[in-house]
Amino acid sequence: MFGSLDKFKSSSGLLLFFVISITGCSTHKVREAAIASAHPLATQAGFEVLNKGGNVYDAAVAVSAALAVVEPSGSGLGGGGFWLLHRESDNTNIMLDGREKAPLAAHKNMYLDKQGQVNKLLSLNGALAAGIPGMPAALVYLSKNYGQLSLAESLAPAIRYAEQGFKIGERHRKLLRFRQSVLKQQDTIAKLFLIEGELPEKDTLLQQKSLAKTLKQIAAKGKAGFYQGEVAEKLVNSVQKLGGIWQLEDLKEYQVKRRQPVVGQYKDMQITSAALPSAGGTLLLEALNILETLDLDAVDDITAKHLIIESLRRAYHDRALYLGDDDFVDVPSKRLLSKQYAYGLASSIRADKSLASDALSGYSKAKQGGRNTTHFSIIDQQGNRVAATLSINFPFGAGIVAEGTGVVLNNEMDDFQASENAANGYGLVGGKANLIAPGKRMLSSMSPSFVEQQERVAALGTPGGSRIPSMVLLAILDFAKGQGPKSQVQVKRFHHQYKPDVVLYEKGGLEEAEIRALEKLGHQLKQYYNYGNMQAVQLDKATGVLSAASDPRGEGFASVQKISQ
Ligand code: GLY
Repeated sequence: MFGSLDKFKSSSGLLLFFVISITGCSTHKVREAAIASAHPLATQAGFEVLNKGGNVYDAAVAVSAALAVVEPSGSGLGGGGFWLLHRESDNTNIMLDGREKAPLAAHKNMYLDKQGQVNKLLSLNGALAAGIPGMPAALVYLSKNYGQLSLAESLAPAIRYAEQGFKIGERHRKLLRFRQSVLKQQDTIAKLFLIEGELPEKDTLLQQKSLAKTLKQIAAKGKAGFYQGEVAEKLVNSVQKLGGIWQLEDLKEYQVKRRQPVVGQYKDMQITSAALPSAGGTLLLEALNILETLDLDAVDDITAKHLIIESLRRAYHDRALYLGDDDFVDVPSKRLLSKQYAYGLASSIRADKSLASDALSGYSKAKQGGRNTTHFSIIDQQGNRVAATLSINFPFGAGIVAEGTGVVLNNEMDDFQASENAANGYGLVGGKANLIAPGKRMLSSMSPSFVEQQERVAALGTPGGSRIPSMVLLAILDFAKGQGPKSQVQVKRFHHQYKPDVVLYEKGGLEEAEIRALEKLGHQLKQYYNYGNMQAVQLDKATGVLSAASDPRGEGFASVQKISQ
């Protein structure tokens, strides 16, 4: 299977050199790749590693690690993520699950007060909110099993960025402002990212020497460089000192998982997306299955939007009812993903009227919020590709750094249900399947996806918490209309997630006339900021032409480049 690639690893460079030497230039093939990420330096890190002879998986390690340094609000060594991988030579797809886990001392009522009420602050800010990180283990696994270069080579750009520093942008400042009051509560993180408690100016150099040291430990010792020894001790000491419950055992036993992605068909397209413990792929396919029965091409634009909203309502409802870490709970995935089930759900949708979420079943009202996470996509001319969505849950995670490590601890514990009726920081409600248990992975919305037709294939995804699957859905529907990455990242966004029973739309996401028409159908609407930061790449299979685009709402960079041989 996929993992056997590592057997060729040490010899591949030599072998390629040998083939080129004996046959001269005749074997020289133009090699090109496309990368789109949320930060120019991360995209650059990917190309740097490709130019050293790395493959797309080495580039994925380089981009992930670079993002951890240059976009610390969105992902990091204290976080986790899902790396969706495709290898063309044997046509295999796999999802590498580097999702965080609940600490072994965690329990279902850990965020409840004496009255049984959820204390939201405990799962959002501070050490008790921190999940056991998966990102470092995933980077080591990805490099060792799929890469051609050493881990140290792939981590080199990130180490350089951390040591030498980089100039912060406006987006970084904006997210710092959002979490400033929380960051000010711990000296270590305040000293790292703020200047005497205040926001640094744009273009201020941010150096992260301790993070560079931690990355070097990983480069030298692999997984043990983070999950055992000096770094692990510092992490656990810091967490415990700040009132958290990590133990050395939590880190030592962390393992990444290889999962079979969810795969579905929408018209002539194959969609491959995130498996549980991400809800993203399941609810994305469920919504697409519903829409396929409704035929969006046959209706006007407003009705199409109404049908998309109604399909999202039903798919998110099932998220709340059924989805959780299926290593711990039984999830009826086969049913949820079946066309027949979608047909049944679609039969309750009327073109002339919305259905209140309460008519599906009752949950308490909830709020929306937050900005987080990151995504990158890579593809080469052979079609080898990676779509990866990585998460620090709220900007700058739990708002604390483990002393001496530079690692921002992540409040991913908030993605669990703190109690059956409570909503999380994204307003998502859920049921028993996503209650906290020791060692369990919290349910995610991250939806790194591949979309494939006869003539082209794309890799895409975005941050945006609970709104991730609806953004990916809108991009896939745009792909279905024949559009490429540039259009997909610009699609105007609207969203429904069952509860709260409201259609969110980004500023300019719906026309005035559309808003009035949707209100007439019974929807409640609310304008939101311009959310999401989609990164999309595409290969035209017939011509070999690559394209890439980075969301204009962010400060990312997408590029197609020839790779030096
Ligand atoms: N932390 C956001 C998610 O995993 O969905």
